[in-house]
Amino acid sequence: MKRVGFVGWRGMVGSVLMQRMMEEGDFEHIEEPVFFTTSQAGQPGPAIGKDIPALKDATSIEELKQMDAIISCQGGDYTKQVYGALRAAGWDGYWIDAASSLRMDDDAIIVLDPVNMNVIKDGLANGVKTYVGGNCTVSLMLMGLGGLFNAGLIEWMTSMTYQAASGGGARHMRELISQMGIIKDSVAADLANPASAILDIDRQVAETIRSDAMPTDNFGVPLAGSLIPWIDTRLDNGQSREEWKAYAETNKILGLSDNPVPIDGTCVRIGAMRCHSQAFTIKLKQNVPMDEIESMIAEANDWVSVVPNERDITARDLTPAKVTGTLGVPVGRLRKMNLGDEFLNAFGVGDQLLWGAAEPLRRMLRILLQ
Ligand code: HSE
Repeated sequence: MKRVGFVGWRGMVGSVLMQRMMEEGDFEHIEEPVFFTTSQAGQPGPAIGKDIPALKDATSIEELKQMDAIISCQGGDYTKQVYGALRAAGWDGYWIDAASSLRMDDDAIIVLDPVNMNVIKDGLANGVKTYVGGNCTVSLMLMGLGGLFNAGLIEWMTSMTYQAASGGGARHMRELISQMGIIKDSVAADLANPASAILDIDRQVAETIRSDAMPTDNFGVPLAGSLIPWIDTRLDNGQSREEWKAYAETNKILGLSDNPVPIDGTCVRIGAMRCHSQAFTIKLKQNVPMDEIESMIAEANDWVSVVPNERDITARDLTPAKVTGTLGVPVGRLRKMNLGDEFLNAFGVGDQLLWGAAEPLRRMLRILLQ
């Protein structure tokens, strides 16, 4: 693999990708990394510890065509703009993409190698050249529950999500923090006075949240002090697109599209920064003892861990506050439900920008570089 092109490396997912590639020494394995830009062609590229050419034009099919592989974190509009034209121009290189536009294409594979290395290897052997990162909740769910899927134990599942602001983008994260600050500022004096009445504070907080003082350009409504039980567009069946992805992408990732596992739920945006959490109700095909379930989950990959179903350790370790910025994917609240012995409760947390976005792409590139 001689020339690898990077597009969208300055954005949030792209920056996390660059950071991870530096940490893992990935650039040492790339003969010629080439950085592209949509606005600053000719300017110097990023410092990656080796000499690189000046930035090239990310809309130039001629320049892109010179690459053996291209990894794009630029977004779906960019993919739509160049991918078809690039392939039509006869380009036969590897395209690795963070955007969702190509995910469900028949000639694209959704990558999550700790879970579907077999699907990726088959794809490589069969000449597949397009590899796309999965939806963040789907990838994080599979990193957490991969052991149960591997064992073929899941008859159906619901996932109720608690999705962080970062899933919307960098501006959404900023807006959440601004909203939090405005709420705090509106009651700062009363809050500092221990004798003040909590219901007065609460009334003022509610007024502030509902007022024009709240910046809502990105979320459209207040998120801080509230939540939004809808992510992405509406489908005809009443699902949100985010909810549809759980079923469609999970089964595609696992190569089960012909015999899919039913999955559905409700996707909710909450005021966490970059960790998505999910509560699962899992209908098992048979009654399996809890210790076996815990082993299956814990042994599925190097990043998942089982958090004992105890209050203090759960409150400490199974939270966005603990997991954010790490590759760990803890799964806890594991117990059989009152619904019956074949009903398993579980809760998972994971960093939406790492396993949910950049890491599967980085690892796919490393697979190609081997
Ligand atoms: N669609 C996800 C979200 C993010 O809005 O949280 C990316 O997969």
